[in-house]
Amino acid sequence: MLPVGVTGVVGMHKPEGERVTTTSAEKITVIDFGEYKIRGELIAMVTAYDHPTARFADEAGVDAILVGDSIGNNVLGYASTLSVTMDEMAAHSHAVSGAVRRALVVADLPYMSYQPSTRDAILSAGRLMSEGGVDAVKLEGGGAMVSTIRALVGAGIPVMGHLGLTPQSAAALGGLRVQGRQAEAAARLAAEARELEDAGAFGIVLEAIPARVAELVTRSLRVPTIGIGAGVHCDGQVLVMHDMFGLADQTPRFARQYADLGAAFRTGFAAYRAEVKDRLFPAEEHSFKMKSEELDLLRGLLTGDRS
Ligand code: KIV
Repeated sequence: MLPVGVTGVVGMHKPEGERVTTTSAEKITVIDFGEYKIRGELIAMVTAYDHPTARFADEAGVDAILVGDSIGNNVLGYASTLSVTMDEMAAHSHAVSGAVRRALVVADLPYMSYQPSTRDAILSAGRLMSEGGVDAVKLEGGGAMVSTIRALVGAGIPVMGHLGLTPQSAAALGGLRVQGRQAEAAARLAAEARELEDAGAFGIVLEAIPARVAELVTRSLRVPTIGIGAGVHCDGQVLVMHDMFGLADQTPRFARQYADLGAAFRTGFAAYRAEVKDRLFPAEEHSFKMKSEELDLLRGLLTGDRS
């Protein structure tokens, strides 16, 4: 049986034959993604928006890196993800994908880069693939996105879906709220997840839904679910790195902090400031020297200038 019910170039059929090229740390592909689910290995995904943090995440062995449109709130100082542009996503995708050797790199299609038409979606996703160098794109939404996903997959572009709390639709959802708490809404979400799978999505992010709903959805799909605020029964987890490392203005309840880089930054900046004021930085080892003959010559030249 095929791992997922997808057809077309990007569908996650097990490809025939050996890979033509191999590396010591083999690049994770959307095909591997499906196989994680089959063998029961959980998928660890994080966001990254720049070259150095993407390299650290990749070297730490995370399976997938998301260039999320959460870059809007976390890096670019926007009030929401709605202001993020295609130019910004393409530039940051390029920065991330250039740093990553092994992890699957997925980029978010920003607000209104794919909703207006299938043609917009293909052009936007194609740009993130070619200019941004990513391996796949992610888009938000259920029913209305089914034909878009089908078209993208048909164009050879791997697509990850995103259901539950979809921040690009926050206005329509009445804010950033937990979704699928009522049985009918949860059933709708489960049906949409199956539709996205049938359309060819290779994985689906489930954001801010009850853990038991995520569990039922996960069990009903052949493609992996990646949870954020969706409990422990998903096939993988994704966290926003600014939440993980104490860099966000506000951290959601469902995130866990793994280090306080915010505190490290504050301490470091304050120490630097104090050392500059006290002439303790730069020290001898940070300064460049000049031969004494050259210095004497220079003094002569400068004195001569004055006469
Ligand atoms: O943009 C983002 O960071 C996301 C995650 C919350 C999944 O879409």
